Parts: sequence; C-alpha cells; structure tokens
Amino acid sequence: MSGSPIAFIDLAAQQRRLGERLSQAIGRVLSHGTYILGPEVAELEQRLAAFCGAAHCVTCANGTDALQLVMMAEGVGPGDAVFVPAFTFVATAEVVPPTGATPLFVDVREADFNLDPASLEAGVAEARRLGLRPRMVIAVDLFGHPADHDALSAICVREGMTLVDDAAQGFGGTYRGRHVGCLGDYTTTSFFPAKPLGCYGDGGAVFTDDAATAELLRSLRFHGKGGDKYDNVRIGLNSRLDTLQAAILLEKLAIFEDELADRQAVAARYAEALKGLNAVTLPRVAEGCVSAWAQYTLLVPDRDALAAACKDKGVPTAVYYPIPLNRQTGYAMHPTVPGGVPVSDRLAAQVLSLPMHPYLDVATQDRIVAAVRSGIGAMASSVAGA
Ligand SMILES: Cc1ncc(COP(=O)(O)O)c(C=O)c1O
Repeated sequence: MSGSPIAFIDLAAQQRRLGERLSQAIGRVLSHGTYILGPEVAELEQRLAAFCGAAHCVTCANGTDALQLVMMAEGVGPGDAVFVPAFTFVATAEVVPPTGATPLFVDVREADFNLDPASLEAGVAEARRLGLRPRMVIAVDLFGHPADHDALSAICVREGMTLVDDAAQGFGGTYRGRHVGCLGDYTTTSFFPAKPLGCYGDGGAVFTDDAATAELLRSLRFHGKGGDKYDNVRIGLNSRLDTLQAAILLEKLAIFEDELADRQAVAARYAEALKGLNAVTLPRVAEGCVSAWAQYTLLVPDRDALAAACKDKGVPTAVYYPIPLNRQTGYAMHPTVPGGVPVSDRLAAQVLSLPMHPYLDVATQDRIVAAVRSGIGAMASSVAGA
C-alpha cells in the first residue's frame, strides 16, 4: 500500500469547505430551541421543492419512512401488487409487506441498472394471474441515474397504477430536462449521510405536486394529527426531520449544485481514464439524462479479484448490492416475474463501485485508476498464463 488512505466518500472534506457556516447554523437552532419542526424545516421544504420544481416537499425521519408514508397516503393494502426492482437497496421493498400488499420483483436493465419496462409489463400480467391488483410501481434511480420515467409512467397511466420514484440515490439528477423530484406521482429521497445530499444523521423527504396529498403526508408524519396535535384523525407515524438536520441540510443545499458539477467532473475523468479496459463495462448515462452520481459502478466479471487487487493498493471499493432482493431470505416468499431476473442476478455478481464524491482530487483519482488498471492487467495475464 502507498500514499494516504483514500476515502470512499469524503464527508470531512465537505465539512472543511462549509467551515463555520455549519456551527453557526447549529448555533441558531440551539438559540431558538425549536428542535421539532422549527423554522429551518419549513425553509428547507420550500428550498428543496424549488430546487427540483415540485409543488410540495414534506420532510420526514428517513428515506424508508418517506416510502412508508407514501404507502399509507395511498392506502396500499391486501390484494395489491407493488412492483419493485429486484436490484436495489432493501428499503425499496421493505415498506410493502407490512401494509399487507405483495411486493412483486421485476428485472432491471443493464444499461442504467434501473427498472425494465418490459419486465414490468410481464410483472403486471403475473400479478393478474395471481389474483392481485396491479397498484403501484416503485422505480429507483439507482446509483443516481434516473429510471426511464416516461416509459414507466405510460404503463402506470394505462394500468391505473401509482408511480413512486425512490430517489434516495437520484436526487439532483435530471431526466429529459426535468429534475428528479417531479417525475412520479410521488418522489421520495433520503438524507442518509452518504447520499449526494446527506445530513449528519437520518433524514428523508417526499415530494408531490398535490396540495391535499402534502397535507395528508404532514398529518401522517405527525401521529395522524388533525387540526391539533392531540386530535388524531388517522393512524400515523412519528417521522419528522429534526430541526438540527434541516439547518445542516440548508447549508449543504447551498453548495449542492456545485457538488453535482464536481461529481460530473469526477465521473468524466473516470470514463476517460478507464475507457477501453478489457472486460470492464463503465457506467453509461442515457441520452437526455444527468446522473447525480451517487455511485460510480463498474461491471467486472471477476469483481472479487479486482476488489482484492484494489484493496492491496489501498483503494476502497464497495459492492452495491451482492444479492437481488428476490433471493434474500426475508423476501424469497414473495413473487418474482416469470423467467426470473437474469439481469439483476448478473449485476449482483459483477458490480463494483469506486470511490465517488465531489472532493476527489485528480492525484487521488489517478491512484484509483492505476489500481484498477493494474488489477485488470494482472487478472488478464493470469488468465493468459492459465
Ligand atoms: C434506493 C434506496 N431507497 C431507500 C433508502 C432508504 O433510505 P434511509 O436509509 O434514509 O431510510 C436507501 C438508502 O440507502 C436507498 O438507497
């Protein structure tokens, strides 16, 4: 190993950039003392909605609750099928079984790692065969790349299904000139620290263009309150974003556009430096899309060998995600589209994510590229010598 340790995501560099502004923002909350739903929460909601062009933003405790609040707002329940990509983080599917609805796993496309409209069509037919009502699609903007929302939306409109965009990784991206945040009937996101827009703890949000739905979500996140907090008109959750986290997010949102541009530059440098590498597929960005680059993810047939070679050179890598959800023990009893999810299976075996954050300097990135290149070179010569 040579050189200083490389961060997979460098939150300390971001903290240095924000400097005093963070402690001043925290100090302001400590002075006014409204820790729950303080003024920073309302301001953040307005700024987030303005950022992405959605009419309303309702913040909540985390990105999983954001999805759960949508389930509750929509009254999803027994007999309903909710279509979920097999290749995503578990939270996307986790919110479905507690409602009594059935998650039905569909496949993704290799080109963008996202829900495959053709597999969704097959899933809808399968739901009907199983006697389930096709009710909702949760599309994921995996690794920051927007799903194919127009194609998915056309299916949802035809079938009378609700389209939810799980943009935990995708907030900040754009699709055909529109920001992620206003592409589905609902968009959810996460402010988990490692996300492109992360806080210093847990946080999340739901975006909607419908005023009545936003009011319903505000009630649901606050124990189902009516006009008064002790007037409980429905079953809800305790799922509010802390004022302290909102204050931190306001500072981070102020530099988010800059950071997204820096992520683009990092991705472009990777693409240039790694192109033409034997047996490596680089992430692609579909025409008309801008990725938020939550991750920079390669496909490599011998992924584990490359991860080990990178580790030897002090370069951290990560595998998001090693097991498709339909194969997870806790989910295997739920239906999968006929024919299975071969693309998800292949991706789970081949994905390898490299360090990606806006503060990745050229010298560090050169070290990462050199480690990947030498790892692939060593793998090729061991195959040649075998
Ligand atoms: C695709 C996806 N959906 C949902 C979530 C859940 O977000 P949170 O961790 O804030 O609950 C995550 C978080 O990693 C995610 O990646």
